[in-house]
Amino acid sequence: MSYKPMKIHPSLFFHTVFLSLLLKFCSALDILTSNATITNGKTLVSLGQSFELGFFSPSNSSKWYIGIWYKKFPEVIVWVANRENPLGNSSGVLTISPDGDLVLLNATTGVVWSSNSSRIEPASVAQLLESGNLVLKRKDDNTENYIWQSFDFPSDTLLPGMKMGWNLSTGANRYLTSWKGNNDPSPGDITYRIDHLGMPQFVLRKGSEKIFRTGPWNGIRFSGTGVPSNILFKVIFVYDKKDLYYKYEVSDDSIITRLAVNQSGLLQRLVLNKGDSSWTTLYSSQNDPCDEYGVCGANGICKISSRPIYIRKGSGGCFMWFGDLIDIREFSEDNEQDIYIRMPASELGHSKKTKLVLITGVSSLSGILILCFMLWCLIQKSKRKRASENKGKDIELPLFDLNIITTATRNFSLTNMIGEGGFGIVYKGTLSTGQQVAVKRLSKNSGQGIQEFKNEVMLIAKLQHRNLVRLLGCCFEGDERMLIYEYMPNKSLDYFIFDQDRKALLTWQKRFEVAMGISRGLLYLHQDSRLRIIHRDLKASNILLDCDLNPKISDFGIARSFDEDLTEIKTKRVIGTYGYMSPEYAVDGKYSVKSDVFSFGVLLLEIVSGKKNRSFHHPDHHHNLLGHAWLLFKEGKALELVDHISELSFVESQVLRCIHVGLLCVQKLSQDRPTMASVVVMLSKEGEALPQPKEPGFFVERSCTETETSTSGERRITQNGVTITVLEAR
Ligand SMILES: *[C@@H]1O[C@H](CO)[C@@H](O)[C@H](O)[C@H]1NC(C)=O
Ligand SMILES: *[C@@H]1O[C@H](CO)[C@@H](O)[C@H](O)[C@H]1NC(C)=O
Ligand SMILES: *[C@@H]1O[C@H](CO)[C@@H](O)[C@H](O)[C@H]1NC(C)=O
Ligand SMILES: *[C@@H]1O[C@H](CO)[C@@H](O)[C@H](O)[C@H]1NC(C)=O
Ligand SMILES: *[C@@H]1O[C@H](CO)[C@@H](O)[C@H](O)[C@H]1NC(C)=O
Ligand SMILES: *[C@@H]1O[C@H](CO)[C@@H](O)[C@H](O)[C@H]1NC(C)=O
Ligand SMILES: *[C@@H]1O[C@H](CO)[C@@H](O)[C@H](O)[C@H]1NC(C)=O
Repeated sequence: MSYKPMKIHPSLFFHTVFLSLLLKFCSALDILTSNATITNGKTLVSLGQSFELGFFSPSNSSKWYIGIWYKKFPEVIVWVANRENPLGNSSGVLTISPDGDLVLLNATTGVVWSSNSSRIEPASVAQLLESGNLVLKRKDDNTENYIWQSFDFPSDTLLPGMKMGWNLSTGANRYLTSWKGNNDPSPGDITYRIDHLGMPQFVLRKGSEKIFRTGPWNGIRFSGTGVPSNILFKVIFVYDKKDLYYKYEVSDDSIITRLAVNQSGLLQRLVLNKGDSSWTTLYSSQNDPCDEYGVCGANGICKISSRPIYIRKGSGGCFMWFGDLIDIREFSEDNEQDIYIRMPASELGHSKKTKLVLITGVSSLSGILILCFMLWCLIQKSKRKRASENKGKDIELPLFDLNIITTATRNFSLTNMIGEGGFGIVYKGTLSTGQQVAVKRLSKNSGQGIQEFKNEVMLIAKLQHRNLVRLLGCCFEGDERMLIYEYMPNKSLDYFIFDQDRKALLTWQKRFEVAMGISRGLLYLHQDSRLRIIHRDLKASNILLDCDLNPKISDFGIARSFDEDLTEIKTKRVIGTYGYMSPEYAVDGKYSVKSDVFSFGVLLLEIVSGKKNRSFHHPDHHHNLLGHAWLLFKEGKALELVDHISELSFVESQVLRCIHVGLLCVQKLSQDRPTMASVVVMLSKEGEALPQPKEPGFFVERSCTETETSTSGERRITQNGVTITVLEAR
């Protein structure tokens, strides 16, 4: 038996191999019994000779550690016990303490490291398994009921069969931590772990800074990462009530592979093929593409039971983006997934209009038929009313002369332009009486415009409420179609709440009044107006503010009146605005008053936070504003959502109520959302008990990876590669 100090380093490779050979003849055991000890030079060797455990000291270091390495490659240390507390010299003893813990003692028998197992089993033994797992178990227990195992305390290496992730019942997290340096196994600042605030994702960190994340779990793979085929190992990903972990298993015992975090901030997937004498670096990148390999694909096993989203090839999953499509990637052919993008018609550029028209051809045709029918009804009605030929009389609204409007807007001069909506440009005009008006001039080439125009005129002419913008009249001559509204000097809500400088002008009290005003206006639309109306496009830019900053709901271009008996309407033309659309509307084209409630909830959270749902970003997660609000609410930190500007003077109870009500409004299922009548009550009554909200609809719909450094050519971010299909609602 050699008692020479064992220095493990590549430069001493042959020396070590020699030692190992020597030790082999000493018939090393894989079990450490209670009375035995391991000292420098003695080792445990797993039954199949794969792994070895013993003392080692990195080169140029005077520190000593207990570690596990590949028996054939002693320089590859896969686990270190006393990383944080090295021995000063090689005098140390690894043994089993009287109460059954595995302990490392120094020269003066001080405890340097202990397995600290919670279970006390005096008759325990330690065994180095062929997998590289060092386990502590009862002497005669051959089950996997280990008292302690090194696999639960990973160092920088993930071996096959090792679980990385969370034991959700204990809250314990197993993750990889790099070495501090080549010769220093103490914990470095690079970590690789699964984060599960919201949907799980792998995150590589340097200290607390994220240097790479895979993007949230989408059911097949971590979105945002490519998926190479892999014959080496299969991936197992488990996500249920008790566990959230990732592991991989080799498909053939002859394959030796490991995943390690390197202190330069890279993940390395190394492989040793049969007969090889050296390691091949399969990947060295900020993420291990193999890791995300077809988790639910051909060779993968995937158990997920705690989340409803489960998107897979061929089935009708739905993945929603509310932001711009900036993070789409192209995947290899066999992993192709079709992307259907539903867009508001108003957001389609002119060039794409033909496509829209083609695809929506059928619905347009029926639309025209309906329009004809409506016109016919109108004519009949007007005949009955014996109205004059004046079209304005049909809709009981003053009809302005085109010349008056042209003069008022100085021939639609650009300097008079105050806004641009989906269906045309809005100009400011001054009538000869001095009255200021807003003129919405519908674009001539907008096919939808005529229909929306009639619709808006007919609907809004009948509406009177202080929180609805007032239509003063209309004008149609030739192909000109215009709506004349009262002029709102303070533009729209988005002009204030999303602007760094102007947001300060909207104090908390004003914001609360705005929210109350909008809720009353919406309640009127839904319940109290002569025609009951679903607005369908409630958003910050459609809330206009008068000179006293009173809110007025505007833009009824796509609003619909509905029958009292009808609770839900289905449409083939889903138009609206991302970030405000409710799930059932965006996905199935179903809308009801509850879809307006959803939009109101989004608006409410935007008013409180001063942030846009659609472009919301947070360094810690990928959720939109709704998801962010939900996470804070769950953690009892809802107040953190408040816009920093208005932080100084807000009324805590009002803010909390707004957030609470906002979350109730954005519930996934329409039946879980309150009606506007209850919203008004909940917002205005201090101390009213509110129901607990559930997870909101659409809060993990974004896929993004911000820090993106691709190291392999097959992964690329594309924007052009996406086929835009305007999806017809079923
Ligand atoms: C361990 O040592 C104790 C006392 O030193 C002795 O009673 C016991 O039999 C020993 N056990 C084994 C397995 O050698
Ligand atoms: C060990 O230390 C010596 C002197 O400090 C240095 O020259 C040598 O490069 C070091 N070797 C390694 C492997 O770090
Ligand atoms: C290690 O240090 C202890 C105390 O510092 C000493 O008693 C012991 O002899 C040293 N061992 C070796 C191998 O140098
Ligand atoms: C041995 O460990 C104990 C406890 O950690 C410590 O107090 C003591 O100084 C150590 N002795 C040596 C020689 O390092
Ligand atoms: C074991 O527990 C003790 C006391 O709780 C603690 O000081 C020590 O750091 C723990 N050791 C390990 C290896 O976790
Ligand atoms: C999680 O911890 C509990 C309690 O210690 C244990 O019973 C269970 O086996 C653990 N789960 C896994 C997957 O390790
Ligand atoms: C980390 O990996 C890179 C790429 O393989 C390598 O060049 C570098 O030496 C490694 N760093 C350490 C400390 O092992």
